[in-house]
Amino acid sequence: MSNSDMEKLVDTSEEWIIERTGIKERRIADESQAASDLAYEASKIALERAGLQAEDIDLIIVATVTGDMPFPATACFLQNKLGAVNAAGFDINATCSGFLYGLYVADGLIKSGMHRKILVVGAEVLSKITDWDDRTTCVLFGDGAGAVIVGPTEEDRGILSMHINSDGRMWDLLHVPGGGSRNPASKETIDKKLHYIKMKGNETFKVAVRTLEELVVRTLEENGLDSSQLSLLIPHQANLRIIQATADRLKLPFDKVVVNLDKYGNTSAASIPIALDEAVASGRIGKGDYILLEAFGGGLTWASALIKW
Ligand code: ACO
Repeated sequence: MSNSDMEKLVDTSEEWIIERTGIKERRIADESQAASDLAYEASKIALERAGLQAEDIDLIIVATVTGDMPFPATACFLQNKLGAVNAAGFDINATCSGFLYGLYVADGLIKSGMHRKILVVGAEVLSKITDWDDRTTCVLFGDGAGAVIVGPTEEDRGILSMHINSDGRMWDLLHVPGGGSRNPASKETIDKKLHYIKMKGNETFKVAVRTLEELVVRTLEENGLDSSQLSLLIPHQANLRIIQATADRLKLPFDKVVVNLDKYGNTSAASIPIALDEAVASGRIGKGDYILLEAFGGGLTWASALIKW
């Protein structure tokens, strides 16, 4: 869906969207598709690239805020589609930071020896919780999924460190008020459009910039790394200006930053694994490279991962 398609829906302009966000297009899932359908496509590719069968997976973690149903977990739907009969599965709700939260859990469970092959997926069908009459949010989001498989290694590489953080005091900056136990689905919640994303964009923007700048600096410092040693920054794809501010804080040249929000918009928990996949596929990541992943989203939540590839 292009920016000119958006112009036909709401009072917006191609120029405004590009200048304020960097987004040119977003992908919208078919009406019949739910999060597990997208997760399934991404997971099949991940299994194939890892040379594994679905039966090899012993845990499935799906990061999503647009699960197929309130329950069961989307991870269980995905398990069923894949035939991953030896796995347990659960979902993680940390909005745009969800994939990194999932990776954090996987990292701990692999390092503790409790699991050996964990499928971590970020999958979102945000188009289904987007208010297509609200120009302040509908231009921003897109649908997508990405997947990784995490396992142990004896080599001198892997996930070096992770940080996850949240601050529930600012929950109201970004939320979906309806459909949960606070405001269960009713005619009234539907009439009031409470099942859609509500965001105080400008306030969220300011907190995101400040928080991410502090987070990336802290992540590198704690690992004794200088930003010049980084090969690639893979940020959550919410807004080009937020990404630029983070890169500037690290004095990182922009060719070391993965940006694909122009094509996909903000796909929440899916954005980092999609960007990671594109960086790998295009040869931007080589063995031994230091790469930094970071995300910020509703909750508020934020997270980072430093990886030696
Ligand atoms: N087209 C045209 N004008 C618009 C549009 C639009 N689509 N949307 C808003 N405007 C107007 C506003 O009404 C406002 O007009 P006013 O000055 O007359 O009141 C003006 O543009 C400026 O609006 P701001 O909200 O101040 O614009 P800003 O520069 O902050 O950009 C944006 C808005 C893109 C939403 C930005 O704030 C942002 O990216 N915020 C962070 C989003 C984010 O990172 N969220 C966390 C992750 S998402 C998740 O967790 C699911």
